[in-house]
Amino acid sequence: MDRDLMQSAEIREMVRDAYRAIGSATSSVASRLYSREDLANVPRSAASRALGVGNHLRHAEIVPGSIVLDVGCGAGIDSIIAAGITGPQGRVIALDFLPEMLSRTASAAVEAGLHNLETLEGEMEAIPLPDASVDHVIANGVINLSPRKSRALAECARVLRAGGGLCMSDLTMQDEELPPEVLTHPAAWAGCVAGVLTERLYLEKLERAGFGEIRVVSRQPFGIDDCAEYPLFTPELIALMRKLIPVERHDSVATSIVIKARVASEKSAGPEGATSHAEGAKVGAIHHFDAGNMGCATGLAEEFRRRLEAIAPGDLLEVVARDPAAKEDLPSLTRMLGHGVKSVESRSDGGIVMTVERRAI
Ligand SMILES: C[S@@+](CC[C@H](N)C(=O)[O-])C[C@H]1O[C@@H](n2cnc3c(N)ncnc32)[C@H](O)[C@@H]1O
Repeated sequence: MDRDLMQSAEIREMVRDAYRAIGSATSSVASRLYSREDLANVPRSAASRALGVGNHLRHAEIVPGSIVLDVGCGAGIDSIIAAGITGPQGRVIALDFLPEMLSRTASAAVEAGLHNLETLEGEMEAIPLPDASVDHVIANGVINLSPRKSRALAECARVLRAGGGLCMSDLTMQDEELPPEVLTHPAAWAGCVAGVLTERLYLEKLERAGFGEIRVVSRQPFGIDDCAEYPLFTPELIALMRKLIPVERHDSVATSIVIKARVASEKSAGPEGATSHAEGAKVGAIHHFDAGNMGCATGLAEEFRRRLEAIAPGDLLEVVARDPAAKEDLPSLTRMLGHGVKSVESRSDGGIVMTVERRAI
């Protein structure tokens, strides 16, 4: 492995560890970024764990019936708001590489009464979805976390249908660098300030990834006090930033921007660097359904059937169910409906993880 790839792997693990370790919840980020109307249907559990850096949904032009991919969904705040906008005719796919985040998003969706939100485990640098399968990609404070940003952006372009839109919030920085003690602090990358690009480089990467109509529609200063609202920034890092960054930059260490872009209406062979997960043998997308505490006697079978029939033929649905009765009931129901059971694994808590294939019937 060359040095860059090794660093990529190290950074990815560091980001994973940092996000996995977040325990405490705070509502200050959500109340700074979103309006009361935005949050009307968002459960507290999701709002209090918001970790984004902007509110791009105001600019995303999502319409009812759309398919939206939320890259790096975290605890689900944007996925839930977007699912309210797409309505039951549309759906939101909430992608994250941490199962812990996906189960928070899934529980919040159940709490919000949403049936059009699916969670999907995967990395933004290799999105497990077919080419041209979504209408909108949204991301909030996520692309900056990637050590391979060009690759992540190329993946966003690949999964968008021709003419589909990207809308995301992220941090950018002026050319002046942060002090090396801050840049090399592990919490600074996880907190989105160390991996930050300049706006010019960000826009160039988008263009190279195959996007057009690229526009920055909002710019807001992001200061040390804003950083301190995020559990990722340790008190030690905040103190270091206050000490080493010149006072005149304390209120604008970075800029929070909202970027919009579109892939061309006629897609070409695909942007450089993108991978196809639909090459060779047909491999469908994997959708996740964490049934929480839903049991066979309390609507699990109906909800499972609804989820399975909502996905495209050829796609897989991975179900996590805690009711021991599900081990027999869900496979028999799957076969009865004419779909395929790929695997059923028992969990130590008596529940199951089952993967089924949706067949065209
Ligand atoms: C700053 S948080 C933002 C969460 C959410 N978008 C929000 O606004 O609250 C970043 C999220 O991206 C996820 N993430 C980081 N790197 C990722 C990667 N390479 N692939 C997929 N998800 C990733 C983290 O697990 C975390 O949930």
